[in-house]
Amino acid sequence: MNRREFITLFGIGSIASSLPIAIAACTSSEPTKTSPSSDWQNIGTVSELDQKGQLQSPNSPIGPVLVVGTSKTDIIAVDPTCPHQGCKVDWQSTNQQFLCPCHQSAFARDGKRLADPATQALKTYGVKIEDDGVWVKSI
Ligand code: FES
Repeated sequence: MNRREFITLFGIGSIASSLPIAIAACTSSEPTKTSPSSDWQNIGTVSELDQKGQLQSPNSPIGPVLVVGTSKTDIIAVDPTCPHQGCKVDWQSTNQQFLCPCHQSAFARDGKRLADPATQALKTYGVKIEDDGVWVKSI
């Protein structure tokens, strides 16, 4: 083996041996940050919901949330922001509807508009009970 052959062989060998290290250095070791369950936001416990019949989270990451119901009834989650001019609606458990205190727009339990002046329904969220928590997500 002459000098030229030795250098060529050594150069290729050193590149080949360092390739796995270079690939490993470029590969991220962080886990995936998004998973299907990460869309759900916990806004309280089942015992809080059962005690009050509603849960509010005005500053949740997905927006203002109002959950009504109990673990023994259907639950629904809405954005309590009135689509008319932005007042916060109140839950009327006796009538089973949301009522806006500003101009008396009314909304059904599922958020559908019942009375003017609002012209749109309340925005609704997905909601579930899991592990003694009440969870919501955008839909
Ligand atoms: S802001 Fe709700 S009815 Fe006007």
